[in-house]
Amino acid sequence: MLRVAICGASGYVGVELLRILSYHPQVKVTVITSERSAEKRVVDLFPHLRKYAHLNYEALHKEIIIQKADLFFMALPHTVSQEAVDFFFKNGKKVVDLSADYRIADHSIYEEWYEAPHNYRETLKKAVYGLPEIHRGRIKKADLVANPGCYPTGAILGLYPAIKEGIIDVEGIIVDSKSGTSGAGRRAEVALSYCEVNEGFKAYGIAVHRHVPEIEQEITRIAKKEVKVNFTPHLVPMDRGIISTIYGKISKEIDTRDVIAIYKDSYKKEPFVNVLEENNFPNAKGIRGSNYCAIGLCVNKRTDTLIMVSAIDNLVKGASGQAVQNMNVMMGFKETTGLEQIALFP
Ligand SMILES: NC(=O)c1ccc[n+]([C@@H]2O[C@H](COP(=O)([O-])OP(=O)(O)OC[C@H]3O[C@@H](n4cnc5c(N)ncnc54)[C@H](OP(=O)(O)O)[C@@H]3O)[C@@H](O)[C@H]2O)c1
Repeated sequence: MLRVAICGASGYVGVELLRILSYHPQVKVTVITSERSAEKRVVDLFPHLRKYAHLNYEALHKEIIIQKADLFFMALPHTVSQEAVDFFFKNGKKVVDLSADYRIADHSIYEEWYEAPHNYRETLKKAVYGLPEIHRGRIKKADLVANPGCYPTGAILGLYPAIKEGIIDVEGIIVDSKSGTSGAGRRAEVALSYCEVNEGFKAYGIAVHRHVPEIEQEITRIAKKEVKVNFTPHLVPMDRGIISTIYGKISKEIDTRDVIAIYKDSYKKEPFVNVLEENNFPNAKGIRGSNYCAIGLCVNKRTDTLIMVSAIDNLVKGASGQAVQNMNVMMGFKETTGLEQIALFP
């Protein structure tokens, strides 16, 4: 049994990790941290996690908890994660960091967008961007995986075959995303309170959202030339889920059927990417609680535009499910272990 710790196990992502890992036969959760709920029983706060009736939260005392686990999931806010990740990694532990702290390879870009120093640049160099569909080979050998952000996961998976196969021009890509409110975490904030969000719908972070450099980093790697994107996220009144509608100008004569065939071929070995048939587009509810990314495609012949619609659950393929997928790849477990029966439809 692999002994696993979850740092930040009282947040939406950490609690979702507990739910998913309860289905995993090769893992034992031995440590869960929370500062505000230290010493409380997890099952008293989250009764659906009865499997963990024996587990209490504890404070994140690195020197104590390092003895108790072999792999550390870090579900802490960005900047808070940096130091703890470095500590566990340097002391020989495997780490999957779900924060943004190790996703941006160039520390100066991280520092610019996150308005904070990166104090562990040598460790940053060792981090592998954890999108298995693109970086599986490197993840297999990695001890530190930077789990992708939620919006970037949907955007990059939606765009990957179109860019790799040269279907679209990489200039002028538009990523228009809508997310449920769990994407912002459990923290209290007026803009996230019930009356503000319920029956509301708004764009935010226009042109400055911190997921822009992450999307651009990965799209640039795929395109093998520098790419900039317009990314506009929206907050919608649902608990979980992200729909990204992505627009790219087609660079050659092609119809929807051919694009779908190319996407299907590109993802044919991927257990968690579903390419939909023509005239089918995903509903966020259809992938709720699951680790799937569903993609619908349409070539608009009138405007020479490929429209890609991707759907993920921000807490699963956009966070905890993908982290478990990465752990499976890192540990040599079957990649789908623990991830096949977790959907919450409807
Ligand atoms: N929500 C999403 O959809 C999503 C998707 C992808 C990635 N992420 C990333 O995953 C991470 C966790 O997100 P979340 O949505 O679960 O956030 P969250 O609900 O706000 O939870 C944050 C967790 O970190 C703990 N924490 C906060 N400050 C701490 C500190 N100074 N020292 C130690 N522990 C601290 C909290 O524990 P207490 O009980 O003490 O407050 C809580 O367990 C973030 O980096 C986020 O950007 C989130």
